[in-house]
Amino acid sequence: MTLIQPASDDVLDRAAALLAAGKLIAIPTETVYGLAANAWDRDAVAKIFAAKQRPATNPLIVHIAAVDRMDQAVKMPLAPVLQRQLDCVVGLWPGPLTVVLPRADRISDSVTAGRDTVAVRIPSHPVALRLLERCSFPIAAPSANRSNYVSPTMAKHCDGAKDQPGIHQFIEMVIDGGDCDFGVESTIVALRPEGPKLLRPGGVSAESLAERFGISVSDLTGTTAESESPPDAISKSTAAMMAPGMMKEHYSPTTPLMLCDSATGMALPPRVGRIAFKPLPAADAARYTVVETLSDSEDLHEVAKGLFAALRRLDHTGLDLILIDHCEPVGIGMAIMDRIHRAAAKHAD
Ligand code: TXA
Ligand code: MG
Repeated sequence: MTLIQPASDDVLDRAAALLAAGKLIAIPTETVYGLAANAWDRDAVAKIFAAKQRPATNPLIVHIAAVDRMDQAVKMPLAPVLQRQLDCVVGLWPGPLTVVLPRADRISDSVTAGRDTVAVRIPSHPVALRLLERCSFPIAAPSANRSNYVSPTMAKHCDGAKDQPGIHQFIEMVIDGGDCDFGVESTIVALRPEGPKLLRPGGVSAESLAERFGISVSDLTGTTAESESPPDAISKSTAAMMAPGMMKEHYSPTTPLMLCDSATGMALPPRVGRIAFKPLPAADAARYTVVETLSDSEDLHEVAKGLFAALRRLDHTGLDLILIDHCEPVGIGMAIMDRIHRAAAKHAD
């Protein structure tokens, strides 16, 4: 029997009841599918960690329906310095932005991994919002994949069949909200007395955030003008765990993944898959066992949207190696390159 259900009112009523009863469900968001539980229910939250085999030190993101429900997750009122920072970016909600703020007491310790801060966001996916509106509690939801595997961007990625055997034992229902629009996770920014800091690039660009805060991108990312260009700066600083759980080997397919540039001049194994950001010349394409083309015109929003699904498909094709394009780490390109560097890191050392 399939766990996947259409997003009808009836199904959403049942989903809200399951969450209220301490069960786990997979839900669509505009970024990736989330594995959802009542964020106030310690036992339900424990099931998320068990299902994902996620280290207890890696805190979860809490989803709320509207700004007037911030107190469900965040200690309100905020200090004026934090409120001013929130005012700068609150117009990006609902949407793929997560802010880190002092936590409310009701949020279970396991959600925050014992920290005194909580990560909170208002998703823009209509199905996620319809579900949140039915709940009297906030929803904790990390991406609905096994820890360190590729995030799910389609309902069928969440049912546990191929990619994450066993996870379905914990999931009561997967609500089908279609393919995720962004395809990469939310941008995470910590709001702090000393100023905002980017913890994870994502669906909202660092440039647009920096502009709203009235600071430079390098001030937001914590990189200095002398340091390398953003991709290296971001991957090095995130390797130092900007956000807890943002470890280097994340989002990894089982098949080795390399940037095309790093493979130049290398003898290739027999079965190589290629992820291209735009159509390849026929002679080039003929060198690969399979080619996934993410966009006709190197549109980086299309690339982001199709990236994780392509990694999953190629991971099931019995390849020896996956080669992938790169892009400028600006706009959504920063999130794309961050995810690719992490997915490739597993096989780099
Ligand atoms: O787009 C998204 O954000 C998706 C959808 C489902 O909303 N969720 C998601 O969750 O990406 P997850 O668990 O895969 O990533 C959560 C990230 C982790 O890297 C975690 O370390 C960070 O959020 N995080 C959570 N609480 C934090 C806190 N108090 N301080 C710093 N980072 C935190
Ligand atoms: Mg994740």
